[in-house]
Amino acid sequence: MNTSPTPERSQFAADVLAGLSSTPKYLSSKYFYDDEGSRLFQEIMKLPEYYLTGCEHEIFAKQAEEIYRAFSNGDSGFDLIELGAGDGTKTAVLIDHFLKQTDDISYSPIDISQEALDALTAKFTTEFPSLAIHPLNGDYFRILESLRNSSGRKKVLLFLGSNIGNFSTDQAIEFFRSLRRVMDENDLLLIGFDLQKDPKVIVPAYDDSQGVTAQFNLNLLTRINRELGADFDVSKFSHYANYRPVEGSARSFLISRERQSVNIAALNRTFEFDQWEAMFMEISQKYSLRMIGEMAAESGFEIKDQFFDSQRFYCDSLWKPQGSLV
Ligand code: AVJ
Repeated sequence: MNTSPTPERSQFAADVLAGLSSTPKYLSSKYFYDDEGSRLFQEIMKLPEYYLTGCEHEIFAKQAEEIYRAFSNGDSGFDLIELGAGDGTKTAVLIDHFLKQTDDISYSPIDISQEALDALTAKFTTEFPSLAIHPLNGDYFRILESLRNSSGRKKVLLFLGSNIGNFSTDQAIEFFRSLRRVMDENDLLLIGFDLQKDPKVIVPAYDDSQGVTAQFNLNLLTRINRELGADFDVSKFSHYANYRPVEGSARSFLISRERQSVNIAALNRTFEFDQWEAMFMEISQKYSLRMIGEMAAESGFEIKDQFFDSQRFYCDSLWKPQGSLV
């Protein structure tokens, strides 16, 4: 057990305390991505039920030229900046095509995980020896602020994979406004949105037959055991996912199968779970085109282009700053 205090660890402890003291209990999905969680998410992306990855891959593979033209828009080069780059597999499809058109691009992947960044940088350096790569480790906004006007070149920000879906609509608008504040007039923002569709397609994506998504959720309890000295018995919790078609939101929960107490040493606290008590873990919002348009308008952008897969399950939406700073 490694419970040494670091600033990150204290924030984690504070967030776990807030979530488990609340009614209903919740934990934040932003903590899913420790090493094991990141590995499990890579596995989720390969599941047949998890259609999102294949849809965005299809868009990039089939429409790379249209995307290139929309990004360059007559100008010569641009700097690509990816927020939460992960393993960069889908982005590699775009970059491969872009490099056939121009050598005047650079790529700055930003990620909170240094390990993920190192792996991505090694892979891209081999695959694209001529590409200028500037990996940046840390918080999006501090880094973006420092990038502002730094080169005088056009910046194209990428926020892919429907990562935005983990935010509520209000949080998403707040996030887009923050991006807007560090963007110049000519910069662009490409966002991946998973669209509303048949609920019978959505639910299995969050409740797969191999139980990988269940492991992905339960892994956060294991992480709390390891990092905060807790004694969660993960075999006494079950994963449950649902979809609310009116709001367009998928949610996942861990359900306590029996009445139990959990002690967390780092918090010096014991938490009681009733039998069948649900702990809210994650929201994965699905969007209508109307919602996308409203969010763009409310955060100071206009939609310049939209790219869809053949099933129209998913949309990569290209936004351009509009009007004065918000
Ligand atoms: C990484 C936030 C896009 O919500 O679809 C996958 C995470 N959770 N399976 C999503 C996730 C369960 C994923 N995002």
